[in-house]
Amino acid sequence: MSAARAALLALALAVTTVLALPSEATAAANRFSCRAGARPVVFAFGDSNTDTGGMAAAAGWPLMRPEGRAFFPRPTGRFCDGRLTIDFLCESLNISYLSPYLKALGSNYSNGANFAIAGAATLPRDVRFALHIQVMQFLYFRDRSLELISQGLNGPIDAQGFQNALYIIDIGQNDVNALLDNYPYDQAVAKFPPVLAEIKDAVQTLYSNGSRNFWIHGTGALGCLPQKLAIPRKNDSDLDQYGCLKTYNRAAVTFNAALGSLCDQLRSQMKDAMIVYTDLFPIKYDLIANHTKYGFDKPLMTCCGNGGPPYNYDPKKGCQSPGAALAACDDGSKFVSWDGVHLTQAANAAVAAAILSSQYSKPQIMFDQFCRV
Ligand SMILES: *[C@@H]1O[C@H](CO)[C@@H](O)[C@H](O)[C@H]1NC(C)=O
Ligand SMILES: *[C@@H]1O[C@H](CO)[C@@H](O)[C@H](O)[C@H]1NC(C)=O
Ligand SMILES: *[C@@H]1O[C@H](CO)[C@@H](O)[C@H](O)[C@H]1NC(C)=O
Ligand SMILES: *[C@@H]1O[C@H](CO)[C@@H](O)[C@H](O)[C@H]1NC(C)=O
Ligand SMILES: *[C@@H]1O[C@H](CO)[C@@H](O)[C@H](O)[C@H]1NC(C)=O
Repeated sequence: MSAARAALLALALAVTTVLALPSEATAAANRFSCRAGARPVVFAFGDSNTDTGGMAAAAGWPLMRPEGRAFFPRPTGRFCDGRLTIDFLCESLNISYLSPYLKALGSNYSNGANFAIAGAATLPRDVRFALHIQVMQFLYFRDRSLELISQGLNGPIDAQGFQNALYIIDIGQNDVNALLDNYPYDQAVAKFPPVLAEIKDAVQTLYSNGSRNFWIHGTGALGCLPQKLAIPRKNDSDLDQYGCLKTYNRAAVTFNAALGSLCDQLRSQMKDAMIVYTDLFPIKYDLIANHTKYGFDKPLMTCCGNGGPPYNYDPKKGCQSPGAALAACDDGSKFVSWDGVHLTQAANAAVAAAILSSQYSKPQIMFDQFCRV
């Protein structure tokens, strides 16, 4: 083949690829739908990044201000000064914020339920409230709802609602962190496959029970969390140009690459399902690296914490310790980190905007098109 023909062929292939992507995305988007005219229903699974009050309800934690102060403006059980990423995603669908499954009073499950719980990991799988337990809770919830409806009573969601709902999974931060806290990098990464197998099992269990729309998040820039940065170190050789820990971030990137591949694999097996993977690492890393773009001036320091610069994080004296309200910063919108582990409402808004852009998703489906097509 002549060089010119080879170049033409390469160009033709490139054009075909470019054309194929949007049409694939369109075909997928057509499946990313619910019943015509129905309200969107969302079920969420995960950890404190997504917990809208489940752990506080389950444990009876009397969270105090300044939690919630920037929006609600009282503590709601969210570990944040305001809304979480999941809250902004619900706003984009024009539905109410998700009630925690374990919250007995004031809950309304007509547009879904939130099974995400602070501290949750994938492993060990049978402890409260690991991902597997959250999925079992979902199946229990579904069976009770359908049972009520079959008795002619008010069940919050019917069979169609469960089938057409969107299932969001955002978990892995606690698994990856625990592994890196306890093992050197290579050994920690070698323990990722069983964690990923739990996420796979969760999707397969939901799928075999009729779920068809999945939205799966990768983990964040763990090496930029004040909680990790405040761990005493011998020297700064593990810090990158933004002051984040390279080892934790490398592990997060490796975990996300494996999770993205898992989603590819599930997508090829479950042809009638919609499986979107969004990589939150570049989103959350960008908040630090390009913090001025978002109006943040203290990317590595907590707003609500103790100990002062550079991280304002003291593991023995956290955001909810007595007197912490006095220690909280005046303006949380200048901070990425709320309490050393969780992001501020301002940072969560930026994360949600990046998810909504579809730029970090595969396939590049618009989140807010769910139930609109
Ligand atoms: C959102 O809901 C409100 C009332 O609940 C309604 O007035 C409005 O039209 C809805 N917007 C969209 C884009 O569906
Ligand atoms: C629950 O939420 C739905 C939708 O947001 C609303 O129509 C309904 O009135 C709410 N139910 C109660 C008891 O507040
Ligand atoms: C639903 O999931 C449970 C738990 O994995 C499983 O035992 C059951 O067979 C599934 N139901 C259906 C209808 O596939
Ligand atoms: C920095 O600490 C690491 C281990 O934490 C060590 O391997 C490295 O040699 C140290 N570098 C310097 C310049 O002391
Ligand atoms: C910072 O922003 C620039 C310009 O948008 C972008 O190219 C770069 O990837 C960002 N850096 C990180 C670490 O996200």
